[in-house]
Amino acid sequence: MQQNTTSVHGMWSSKLGFILAASGSAVGLGNIWRFPSLVSENGGSAFVLVYLGCILIIGLPIMVAEIMMGRAGRLSPVGTMRELAKNAAGGQFWQWIGWSGTAASVMILGFYSVVAGWTLSYSWQYFMGLFGEGAAIADGGATFNGLLGDWKTLLLWHSVFMGMTMLVVAGGVQSGIERASKILMPLLVLLLLALVGYGMTTAHFGEAVSYLFSADFSKINADSLLEALGQAFFSLSLGLGSLMVYGAYLGNKDSVGFVSGAVAISDTLIALLAGLAIFPLVFAFGLDKTVSGAGLIFAVLPAGFADMTGGNFWGFLFFLLLSVAAWTSAISLLEPSTALLSERTSMGRKGAALTMTVGIWVLGVAVALGLNVWKDFTIVADKNIMDSLDYITANILLPVGGIGVALFAGWAMDKNVVREHLSDMPDWLYGVWKFMAMVVAPALTAWVLYGKLAGGG
Ligand code: TRP
Repeated sequence: MQQNTTSVHGMWSSKLGFILAASGSAVGLGNIWRFPSLVSENGGSAFVLVYLGCILIIGLPIMVAEIMMGRAGRLSPVGTMRELAKNAAGGQFWQWIGWSGTAASVMILGFYSVVAGWTLSYSWQYFMGLFGEGAAIADGGATFNGLLGDWKTLLLWHSVFMGMTMLVVAGGVQSGIERASKILMPLLVLLLLALVGYGMTTAHFGEAVSYLFSADFSKINADSLLEALGQAFFSLSLGLGSLMVYGAYLGNKDSVGFVSGAVAISDTLIALLAGLAIFPLVFAFGLDKTVSGAGLIFAVLPAGFADMTGGNFWGFLFFLLLSVAAWTSAISLLEPSTALLSERTSMGRKGAALTMTVGIWVLGVAVALGLNVWKDFTIVADKNIMDSLDYITANILLPVGGIGVALFAGWAMDKNVVREHLSDMPDWLYGVWKFMAMVVAPALTAWVLYGKLAGGG
């Protein structure tokens, strides 16, 4: 098979460019609020160990497969799958991986953008509070409920966020996505370190450390295994083609194994650091740590900022951190469909980015209205529009996509091409990867998928 050395969409300037963009994709809302609360709900460091195991034996092999496939195809996920399927056992049947992944990216961005809008709205309120009297947000619970009920404000920030995302993607691979990542990722790390530093000054840092890292294996059960694997998928951006399309822009000389390891390590470190930023505040201000997910961040933490000296400043930094993390992830959710549209039409990257943004914006409008005006409208079980999209993507499309990627790379794809793209791996390591991709990752993911669907979670 003729191997392309460059992609029609553009290329990263270097391996570092890829690593920053792909870590930007991985590090997102999932790391900064979902991971810390999952750790605390599931037995501290025992859960951390299970999560690390999931990353190592399932996440990393699938990530290697996804990036390798992207580089071999050098197109949007749909284009890449079409290309690779030509020489694969099973033929064009495998195209579904590209289509379902692209559909999932649109659905995820539809609600991700609304949530990112909340973080922008909070950043703005704290920022304004810096110039005003007292705390910008005095009652977190009331502020959060007020925001969810106020469709105009939700739409305003959703629109701003989609516009920010479109601007970067329209700018191109190198001068848009890579340039933004090179500025935003260091900023993200600085903000996070500043917040961890604040946590260290609270006298409750040690308590947070032991809360997060003291092993309690009695709390580990089948449910927490499912949670850990689901979180590994979402946090590493696996199963829908974000990393596949980023891999399409990776130079032929760069090591797929190395860049995958770098992304997995930075994603995990940032998730752990986020825990060390959040829990000292929870303890120092006597906040309710049993509230998890959105409530912990948007209703509970603001109570801490309201009590803290300089709370408007720290609140601003915290929500800015979340906004930055969400932004670089959203970029990777817009890229698969934008690349596809620009391959299939003559509208070019800018036109494609604009068209997809408008489409996804409309979906986000439905999500935002689904929180208030249309809150009785349900799709899956008794879930509103946002929770339904979340459920369908995280519990079905991502794991199914991940299984597809692993099976395709392990069984169906042209073996010589696979080996060529992983040529820097010694034989034993290649053998391990291959076994993980062929058997272990798909089997365990299928088990999780079954568990989630059967358990209704
Ligand atoms: N990984 C991001 C987070 O933790 C979200 C994300 C971006 C994602 N691209 C993805 C999740 C692709 C699944 C698949 O918030």
